[in-house]
Amino acid sequence: MKLTEEQKKRVEELLSRMTLEEKIGQMNLESPSIVGGFDVPFEELIEMMTDGRISQEEFQKIMSTATRDFHEEDIRAGLVGAMMGDDPVKANELQKIAVEESRLGIPLIMGFDVIHGLRTVYPIAIAEAGTFDEELFERTAGIAAKESRAHGIGWNFAPMIDVARDCRWGRVSEGPGEDAYLASRFARAKIRGLQNDRTSPENYVAACLKHYVAYSACESGRDYNTTSMSVSQLHNVYLPPFKAAVEEGAASAMASFNDLNGVPCTVNPYTLRELLKGAYGLDGFVVSDANGIKECVTHGIAEDDRDAGIQSANAGLDMDMGTHIYKDYLKEAVESGAVSMEVLDDAVRRILSVKMWLGLFENPYVSEEAIARYAGKIPAEHAETALEAAKKSIVLLKNEGNVLPLSKKQKISLVGTLAASEEEIIGAWAMSWRNEDCVSILEGLKNSGAEVSYYPCGGPEGEINADEIARACGEGDVVVAVVGELMSMSGEASSKANVELPGKQREMLSLLLEKTRAAGKKLVTVLMNGRPLALGWEEEHLPVLVEAWHLGVQMGNAVAAVLTGEENPSGKLASSFPSVNGQCPIYYSHPNTGRPGSKSKFTSRYLDAPFDALFPFGYGLSYTTFAYSELKAEEDKDCLRVAVRVKNTGDRKGTEVVQLYMQDVTASLVRPVKELKGFSRVELEAGEERTVNLELKKQDMGFYNNQGEYVLEDGLFRIYAGGNSRDCLCAEIRVNF
Ligand code: NOJ
Repeated sequence: MKLTEEQKKRVEELLSRMTLEEKIGQMNLESPSIVGGFDVPFEELIEMMTDGRISQEEFQKIMSTATRDFHEEDIRAGLVGAMMGDDPVKANELQKIAVEESRLGIPLIMGFDVIHGLRTVYPIAIAEAGTFDEELFERTAGIAAKESRAHGIGWNFAPMIDVARDCRWGRVSEGPGEDAYLASRFARAKIRGLQNDRTSPENYVAACLKHYVAYSACESGRDYNTTSMSVSQLHNVYLPPFKAAVEEGAASAMASFNDLNGVPCTVNPYTLRELLKGAYGLDGFVVSDANGIKECVTHGIAEDDRDAGIQSANAGLDMDMGTHIYKDYLKEAVESGAVSMEVLDDAVRRILSVKMWLGLFENPYVSEEAIARYAGKIPAEHAETALEAAKKSIVLLKNEGNVLPLSKKQKISLVGTLAASEEEIIGAWAMSWRNEDCVSILEGLKNSGAEVSYYPCGGPEGEINADEIARACGEGDVVVAVVGELMSMSGEASSKANVELPGKQREMLSLLLEKTRAAGKKLVTVLMNGRPLALGWEEEHLPVLVEAWHLGVQMGNAVAAVLTGEENPSGKLASSFPSVNGQCPIYYSHPNTGRPGSKSKFTSRYLDAPFDALFPFGYGLSYTTFAYSELKAEEDKDCLRVAVRVKNTGDRKGTEVVQLYMQDVTASLVRPVKELKGFSRVELEAGEERTVNLELKKQDMGFYNNQGEYVLEDGLFRIYAGGNSRDCLCAEIRVNF
């Protein structure tokens, strides 16, 4: 986010004319409160819908009947800097008050949670990250930016770039998976997509990096729980995506709820001032998470609201979301000297700079034409991109006997309540989608021309219907069972201690297996979920497993394309899958122990479960096969040039994600057994062989020590290349820096 000299001058000029109250007003993010029957803030209501406490229908009913307070008086008085919402007509109304009726005419910045699309909902991030396709990451974000602007939203609470290694945590669905390197590339691409098309003010928004930081490392995978870790781990695993995104020009960040080594991130001067704004150089502002400032009292770090407000402001937290603590206490705090005017000016300067950069002073309103653009169904080119993203995100986990792809002649018995749902395909944290844009799996199969009969039989909740299961297996040539999680089972406040298939779905699959076997038919299982599941039983018993996540509005067409072979799957896992619950957290890039897990007794293993992942990070099959050979790593000035031969050994065209890993064999701190350092999507015709060249910069071969310093240490390195983090070729090389 770069301002011109002229824009900087305008910010300073405004700042010099502002009263203390007006400055504090800019630091206040309001959300419409519901007045009447349902007296909770709008944002709490959204959370209630997202976490399933109320249904989408209930939400819509409340919204259509409730009277909402949009804080017009406060806006007029210059006491509001930002507002939540996705209604462009309302945004224009409120903006008019801010621009025309407040003393200084400073526009509002409208913020909203647009995590994986607004109207055009594309795959949840954990799925999209598995495409390893940066150009796609950028393109989907670009669509989200355009749709946001047309809804009056200039500020997206995205990307969510928490590296998450514990799939009990419900929010793994929202982020790019377990790996710091992939998450960093994802973060950079999302920033480019959201912010960089400045050919028109309608095309870009301000990104908000979240949740800063280490929120995903919550103990036991329980949301909002405490986090504690070494400085080295913080810098090597959790900070890199944030650092990368700031380098890419991210305009803002959101402080996370959790405490980190005892200091809540809302009031943490080390992470906020020293690292984010200091070392990384964030030019924009930092907002709290909802109610975050107040929660510092509950954490036990602040005596009362006033104290929490003072600590937050001093730590570098510029904007208050969801409490009125800045509004209520900052004036007195500045007057009494508890918070300096420099601290306040710094915060307000950052907020005004983002507004200036967004062009809100020149273009505060959404045009009638832009509003009309989304009155009906989503534009066809947006739906096409959502379809491409959904197809590329699907991961083929197992395909025993090459049951897939299905032939056009095969009659399908489609099973599972999820298979016909238009809602459950969406996934966590999406609120502005419409049913008319959603394609269920049933509909997708029908669209593909497949002959399909549908039997609900059972789903993530409730009972299963044995008669219907028998009927489904009696009809058709192949049974496709869709099982998984409801979208409310992942996302915020949706941690689970049991990450196996919920409800009676395993029982349903067991019956389907028995009956299809007896009838000599094939069973295909499609998974639709928001987190890696513990699939030990399923992998052992079921012949075919397709991981289809929550893929957004085009899910049905994408699943149909993969099942019928129109699309050859190329998706990989951005997160390792355990066999059983007790393996969590499980991730490929773990440090070595002195006794690595093996069959021997006194090694790092379990008596009753495997020690490694069922499906590791980077894993995913294709309808063709790939073979790797001739891995070479050579030093060339400031980088290593890595080359590997990859051959399509099957009989159809396919795309492989070639992955480059590294191990620093001996170092002053124990280093991970493997670290992803590069990747390349390669499309190969049947029988085609190619050398894939990857570059590893020497500068990227170091690590952060426990003083938070980045060090490069001479010595032996192992270089790995392969189609997943487990099955790789290995070469060794000595490197001096
Ligand atoms: C709470 C969530 O943690 C965060 O991700 C979201 O952006 C805010 N609420 C605002 O809705």
